[in-house]
Amino acid sequence: MTAVSVRHTDLANRGVLITGGGSGIGAALVEGFAAQGAKVAFLDIAEQQSRKLAGRLSEKSAHPVVYLKADLRNVAETQAAVDEVAGKLGSLAVLVNNAGWDDRHELDAVTEEYWDASQAINLKQMFFVSQAAVPHIRKTGAGAIVNFSSIAYLLNMGEMPAYTTAKAGIIGLTKSLAGRLGAENIRVNAILPGMIVTERQKELWLTEEGIGKMVARQCLKRVLMAEDLVGPCLFLASNASAAMTAQTIVIDGGAL
Ligand SMILES: NC(=O)c1ccc[n+]([C@@H]2O[C@H](COP(=O)([O-])OP(=O)(O)OC[C@H]3O[C@@H](n4cnc5c(N)ncnc54)[C@H](O)[C@@H]3O)[C@@H](O)[C@H]2O)c1
Repeated sequence: MTAVSVRHTDLANRGVLITGGGSGIGAALVEGFAAQGAKVAFLDIAEQQSRKLAGRLSEKSAHPVVYLKADLRNVAETQAAVDEVAGKLGSLAVLVNNAGWDDRHELDAVTEEYWDASQAINLKQMFFVSQAAVPHIRKTGAGAIVNFSSIAYLLNMGEMPAYTTAKAGIIGLTKSLAGRLGAENIRVNAILPGMIVTERQKELWLTEEGIGKMVARQCLKRVLMAEDLVGPCLFLASNASAAMTAQTIVIDGGAL
C-alpha cells in the first residue's frame, strides 16, 4: 500500500475502533491507523480474513491489532463487542463507522425484509455502534467519529435505492451526532468516497467499461484505491481537523 507520509503524533497510543476492518477500505484504514502508532481494534463478520489481517499487522505495529468478530446487525452483540474493545484497548478516542454492504437491487424486487436488512447494515448499526462507543470516548475528554457515506446517493443511481437511502441518512446522523456531542469535544464528520476499486467491488460489480467511464468522469484520470481514503480519515480523526465537525468531505477524484 502507499504509506501516508504525514505523521499525526496525537494519534499515537490513541484507542481507535474501525467497523468492517477486515477487507476493502476498512482494512486499509486499520493498517493506516496502526502505522500511526494508534491502538487499533476492528469489528467484522468475516472471521478468516480478519484474523489474518490482525495477525499480519500485529507483527509490525507498535501495539497488537485487536480483532473481534461481531455481526453489526445484532445490536446487543455489537454493544458488547464495543465494550470489550474499549476494555482491551484501555481507552477509546476514535470511532470509524466504515462497515457497509452495497448490494445492487431492482426497485420492483425490494421486499420489506430486504429493505430492513439493508438499513440494518448500512444505517442502523452506525447509530448503535456510535451510541455504544460514546460513553468510552467521553472518558478520554475528546474524540472523533468518522462515518462512511458515499457519493452514490448524489448520482441519481437507479440500481440501489435502499443503499443510497441509507448513505444519505448517514449525513443526517453525522450532523445530528455532531450537534449533540460538540459540547463534549467529540467531533463527528463524514467521508463520501467515489468509486473505490476493491477486490469485492471487482468481483461483484465493476467492469473494465464501468471503471473507464468513472475515470473519464473524474478530474483525476486514475483509479481510486482503498488507500486513498486513509489520509482523509486520519485527518478527520486527528487534531489536524480540531475545529471541524458536522462536515462531509468527498474523496472521488473530482467525479462530482
Ligand atoms: N468501495 C467503494 O467504491 C465505496 C464507494 C462509496 C462508499 N463506500 C463505503 O465505504 C465503506 C467501505 O467500503 P468497502 O467497499 O471497503 O466495503 P466492503 O463491502 O468491501 O467491506 C465492508 C466490510 O464490512 C464487513 N461487514 C459486512 N457486513 C457486516 C456485518 N453484518 N457485521 C460486521 N461486519 C460486516 C465485511 O466483511 C467487510 O470486511 C462502506 O461503508 C461503503 O458503503 C465504498
